Amino acid sequence: MPKGKLTRIRLIMRIAVLLLCAAVVTGVSIYLFKPDLFARAGQEAEETEEQPPPDGIIKPDLEPPKPEPKPQLDAPAPEEAPVIPEEAPPKKQAEPGKGLIKVDGNNLFALVTKQTTLGRYAPGDLQTIPAGFVHPSRRGSKHYLRREPLGHLRDMWAAADKAGVQLTVTSAYRSYDTQVSTFNYWVELRGEAKAVTFSARPGQSEHQLGTTIDFNIDTNAGKKQHDWLAKNAHNFGFAMSYPKGAENITGYIYEPWHYRYIGVAAAKEWKAAGKPLCVFLKTKQ
Ligand code: DAL
Ligand code: ZN
Repeated sequence: MPKGKLTRIRLIMRIAVLLLCAAVVTGVSIYLFKPDLFARAGQEAEETEEQPPPDGIIKPDLEPPKPEPKPQLDAPAPEEAPVIPEEAPPKKQAEPGKGLIKVDGNNLFALVTKQTTLGRYAPGDLQTIPAGFVHPSRRGSKHYLRREPLGHLRDMWAAADKAGVQLTVTSAYRSYDTQVSTFNYWVELRGEAKAVTFSARPGQSEHQLGTTIDFNIDTNAGKKQHDWLAKNAHNFGFAMSYPKGAENITGYIYEPWHYRYIGVAAAKEWKAAGKPLCVFLKTKQ
C-alpha cells in the first residue's frame, strides 16, 4: 500500500476514535449531571402503552341511588290517609264560601252537601269507639262518634261478626280543623280539581257530624265488609252516602266505605226509596 494512502486511513481512524470518545464523555456527563433527562425519556416510553385498569374491570361512575317511586293510588283515593292529630293547628283557615246554606249539625237529617255548611259545628256527646272496632293501622289515635250512633255501631259490629265479617273503622268524627288539614293534604297531593271529588271542604264533611264512619277504605281488603254493609247497614240506622252512579248528584265518587247514621226508621225508609241519601234527606227538611 502506498505510504500516503496509509497515512490517510490512520488519520480517519484517529478522528473516528476521537469522535467516539467525545460521544461517550458527553453521554456520561449528561447521565451524571442531568439524570432527569433519562428519567423523562423512560417515562414517555412507558406512557405510550395503554394501561389496563388496576383490577381489569372498567367501572362506570356511581350514581346516587334513585328513590323508589311512590305507588300511585287508583281512585277512589283514601280520604283519611294523613295521620294528623286533632289538635294540629290548621295550615289555612278555609272559610265557608259565600252563598252556602248554614245547617244544624245536631239534626240527624242535616243536609250536608256542597251547597251547605256546618260552619265550625262540633257535637256535644262524642264518645270513644272501642279500639277493637278500629282498623289496626288506625289504633294509634282515638276515634269518636256521637252516643246514639255508637250504640248502633256496637249492635251492627256484633251482627257482622256473627256473620263472619269483621268491621274495621278507619275514620269516624273529624273536627272542622281536621278537615282543613285533610282537605289541604289532598289538594297538595292531587290538585284541587281532583281533591274535591273525594274530599269534602271544611264545614261540608258528614264526618263533622259525629255520626259518620268509614269502614276500611281499601276497596279490595274492605270488599267483604262493604258487601255486608250494603245489604245490612240500614237495619242498624246507617245509610251509604255516596253510591255508585250518583256522582253528578252527590259531587263525590263512589265510596262504598262511607256510612252515615240517620236512625233505624229513616234508614229503612231510605233503603226502600232507592235514592241517593242527599235526595232522600231533602224530603226530610
Ligand atoms: N269523603 C267525603 C266526601 C268526606 O270527605 O267527607
Ligand atoms: Zn268518609
